[in-house]
Amino acid sequence: MDELDRIKELALKDLENLRDLSVLEAKRIQHLGRSSALSQFLRSLKDRTEDERRAFGQIANRLRAELEERYTASRDALMDSAEEMASRLDVTAPGRQVRRGHLHPLTRASEDINAIFAAMGFRIVEGPEVETDFTNFVALNFPPDHPARSMQDTFWLKGMEQLMRTHTSPMQIRFMQAHQPPLRIVVPGRVYRNEATDATHEFQFHQVEGLMVARKGEHAPSLANLKGVMEYFFRRYFDDPELHVRFNASYFPFVEPGVEVYIKGTKGKLAGRWLEVAGAGMVHQNVFENVGYARGEMQGFAFGACAERLVMLKHSIDDIRLFHGGDLRFISQF
Ligand code: DAH
Repeated sequence: MDELDRIKELALKDLENLRDLSVLEAKRIQHLGRSSALSQFLRSLKDRTEDERRAFGQIANRLRAELEERYTASRDALMDSAEEMASRLDVTAPGRQVRRGHLHPLTRASEDINAIFAAMGFRIVEGPEVETDFTNFVALNFPPDHPARSMQDTFWLKGMEQLMRTHTSPMQIRFMQAHQPPLRIVVPGRVYRNEATDATHEFQFHQVEGLMVARKGEHAPSLANLKGVMEYFFRRYFDDPELHVRFNASYFPFVEPGVEVYIKGTKGKLAGRWLEVAGAGMVHQNVFENVGYARGEMQGFAFGACAERLVMLKHSIDDIRLFHGGDLRFISQF
């Protein structure tokens, strides 16, 4: 009798808190199946006397009937609640829209710009944002008293030996120090200027620098080649085959002659007026000398443009501060 009590107790205990039909079935087999303690008990009766067999057999069979009933009732209850859940679940309801992110407009612009120059055979390289006075200014032929070096324009670090680069041009120096012409690179990257912000100025923005150099001779890059590269690039970037490029004489210490690149297109902000979009020129022989090339042996051009300005012109954006203002209404338009 003790054994039957224990079997009952265990079998009923396993029914408590059951939530899962497959667990219920496993428990049913455990307590009522062929190798359950109860079945074994019934089988062992054949070794008992006839009286014992009759008495215990009756009790054990009643217990089995009772347990089977309890297990069936539990199964019905669980199936009901599963059915109820299924009736509340509308598998035909339209899915909820998941908001997907996308690349920042500047990241996309940078990828587009790189791809256009890569198609012309330019290699994309990046440089450090912390630069030295030598690579950012000295080697680029900036005179010691040039205004760009002043406290207002440059974020200086560590006692004026290191600085946050004010342009991507120092990568011209680093790359030429490590490579021999012919070379053709484009350097995208973030630059820093210590100045007040307004709709057209940020203290941090992006530039794209270009440099193409070869040994002097028939195929060395010329000012005309520079114009051709600029024209191809801007026509592709603004998707405007009618776009025109014009050079105006200008001054940058690391080029001679130096020019400002103007474009006039046919769409949106570009339509019908000349806009200044880049600085450029023929690399100064002093610069070649500063990187260890023999004076007069190399020839090439360089250019630099502000990525934000290009994106702003392309998409008619009128405030540069929008790019990093964190306003998703702006970002999600791209
Ligand atoms: N580094 C110049 C700036 O930040 C832009 C520039 C002008 C880059 C002329 C060039 C260049 O490579 O040839 O204003």
